Amino acid sequence: MDSDAAFEIFVVTAPGLEPALCAELQALGFADPVPVKGGVTVRGGWPEVWRANLEVRGATRVLARIGAFRAFHLAQLDKRARRVPWGDVLRPDVPVRVEASCKGSRIYHAGAAAQRIERAIREELGAPAPTDADADTAVVLKARIDDDLCTLSLDTSGESLHKRGHKEAVHKAPMRETMAALFLRLCGFDGAEPVVDPMCGSGTFVIEAAEIAAGLLPGRSRHFAFERLASFDPAAWERLRVRETAAAPPPAVRFHGSDRDAGAIALSRGNAERAGVAGLVAFRQHAISDLTPPDGPPGLVIVNPPYGARIGEARQLLPLYQTLGKTLLARFGGWRVGLVTSDAALARSTGLPFGPPDAPVSHGGVRVTLYRTGPLP
Ligand SMILES: C[S@@+](CC[C@H](N)C(=O)[O-])C[C@H]1O[C@@H](n2cnc3c(N)ncnc32)[C@H](O)[C@@H]1O
Repeated sequence: MDSDAAFEIFVVTAPGLEPALCAELQALGFADPVPVKGGVTVRGGWPEVWRANLEVRGATRVLARIGAFRAFHLAQLDKRARRVPWGDVLRPDVPVRVEASCKGSRIYHAGAAAQRIERAIREELGAPAPTDADADTAVVLKARIDDDLCTLSLDTSGESLHKRGHKEAVHKAPMRETMAALFLRLCGFDGAEPVVDPMCGSGTFVIEAAEIAAGLLPGRSRHFAFERLASFDPAAWERLRVRETAAAPPPAVRFHGSDRDAGAIALSRGNAERAGVAGLVAFRQHAISDLTPPDGPPGLVIVNPPYGARIGEARQLLPLYQTLGKTLLARFGGWRVGLVTSDAALARSTGLPFGPPDAPVSHGGVRVTLYRTGPLP
């Protein structure tokens, strides 16, 4: 693969959030973003792959499509896999793990397909097969065989991108940073208004909002799988990081979290400290009934209250949602509300004037929905 050539880059997100991710990619100036199931495709070369990993808040991972060929049987897969110019993208000293999937194809045994491709790479390039000890350092190549077409994509991220590299501690049912960022975007948050999360758990919404306002790049503190590829150019990567880390003016507003649980508040403070936004946030321990708006202009209340995963639990949560709704309606005139929950009846029980709900989003096996209001009366 020519280092300047453009190829397809697949930016993965949680199903349901594709349009929001597409809007983010457009705003960041990526070329030709097209939402597809499970993500958004853009065009670009390796610098765009690096930039997507560094800057896109809503991306779970970034895959580089490095090749495709037809394969009707395993011997053909083996032969064609040997012709891929692996040395352009893979290093002979870095183990490669192949993950294959087959759909509607004559090759139906994903394990056998992965084994053929792994062997082709080992024999043609010399890259070692991964052992258990390489779980964190192996590069992952995804081979999707769909309708007899084998598409090869390299995982350029490594650990999921919701791991920004600051959070050591999570509370119960934490929101993933990637989803929190896209929910903030869907609520129209652009960094210029205050944010309140009255059930903040480990502080995800508040810390993401503060980072957005401060212009801090989501990938600034972590490493990526692309650093172990043959296409990696450390000097160009350093130049990109410096160029994109433009000093933003300090935010004029603050970001507030509260939770009735003292442990949650301690975690949130620690997470904000590690993310470098402690000076922009305030966390206080109190129940939702004691919530009051901070001084200054109105902004956005965003919250994901507990939701009962099991039958019967939702009923017990009704009073909590009712208190949330009453408190916001009584004290938060002019503020907008974004509420993330899995239960439409609980959302309705708040009495908040929500518009039509967005598409549900899959979050750790639960389908959650974002409900939004305009400015409250
Ligand atoms: C689903 S978790 C929120 C997770 C959070 N978004 C995060 O990313 O970590 C719900 C939170 O609501 C808090 N909570 C439950 N009842 C509350 C109440 N009456 N007042 C304030 N917080 C409450 C819980 O302590 C828990 O941290």
